[in-house]
Amino acid sequence: MNAAEPEQILEDEARLQLNDDGSLRHLLTLKGLERSLLVDILDDAERYLTPTGRLPARSGALAGRTVANLFFEPSTRTRASFDLAGKRLGADVLNLDVNTSSRKKGESILDTIYTLQAMRCDIMVVRDASAGVPAYIARHVKDHVSILNAGESDVSHPTQGLLDLLTIRRHKGRFDKLVVAIVGDIRHSRVARSTGWGLHTLGVGELRLVSPPSMAPPPGDLPFAKIHDNLDDGLAGADVVMALRIQRERISDLDGIPGTAEYFASYGVSHERLRAAKPDAIVMHPGPMNRGIEIEGSLADSKQSVITEQVTNGVAVRMAVLERVAKALEGR
Ligand code: CP
Repeated sequence: MNAAEPEQILEDEARLQLNDDGSLRHLLTLKGLERSLLVDILDDAERYLTPTGRLPARSGALAGRTVANLFFEPSTRTRASFDLAGKRLGADVLNLDVNTSSRKKGESILDTIYTLQAMRCDIMVVRDASAGVPAYIARHVKDHVSILNAGESDVSHPTQGLLDLLTIRRHKGRFDKLVVAIVGDIRHSRVARSTGWGLHTLGVGELRLVSPPSMAPPPGDLPFAKIHDNLDDGLAGADVVMALRIQRERISDLDGIPGTAEYFASYGVSHERLRAAKPDAIVMHPGPMNRGIEIEGSLADSKQSVITEQVTNGVAVRMAVLERVAKALEGR
């Protein structure tokens, strides 16, 4: 779809996602979004969080709207989360089964989109393995349609970035004094790019990207981050530690990456390795996680882990984004 480098794609997408008045028309990338807009979305998401034991928040903000989930790559969290977010806002939600969709018969993605557009789907949530797909669709849809990027190759996963920001803010408050370490397969990670850009925009004190050299970001990617290939150095004094999954599906030369035992020994986030971080450091993982490879299983279930909170916050963030783009579609 797009042979450009991830950073170039992010710049193109940044220009496309806003209306002339600065309101959010599509959500394609966090790169280029103003700090005030990110903060407003996080504040809106807070309104959709309810204490454990209470029923989840609901509103009629999307009554009459239709949200279509089009996931051309596997997903548990993001897909279920957009499904629940749309329903809790009163929308009709269509979960297209891509395995039985006409794309399997050779229909182009645009023809699939035009078909759903003709059925008055207003908001299309798209995950695809190819870079540039969400922006490509956004350039072709009618005025009454908004496109939300739910995971784009190794380029971007903006709602994951937002839920990570919300989770960090709820535990740590201000960003400017924080040291955040993202550990693992940075090179192939759309999460590292989205969360990284979001943290930068919110003024994080220090962002460290920790990985084996073969999984380090390409030169020029996330240029504000410090690059580490030693886990202990990368975790020293960190307030937030986020482990990432090895994106095997995006790695062409699997022989070039460490074996799983070797990887865990060098880059696995464990109780022992976490001693280098601050005593009150929080531990994150976007999921799906591979216990015993990227993260020690008992650490993922420990009090320091906020992994299930990330999932909870994901529904709230997606409700906030859906509500915001639906407002921008009013009258179209
Ligand atoms: N974090 C994330 O995108 O998870 P899923 O692949 O399950 O949606």
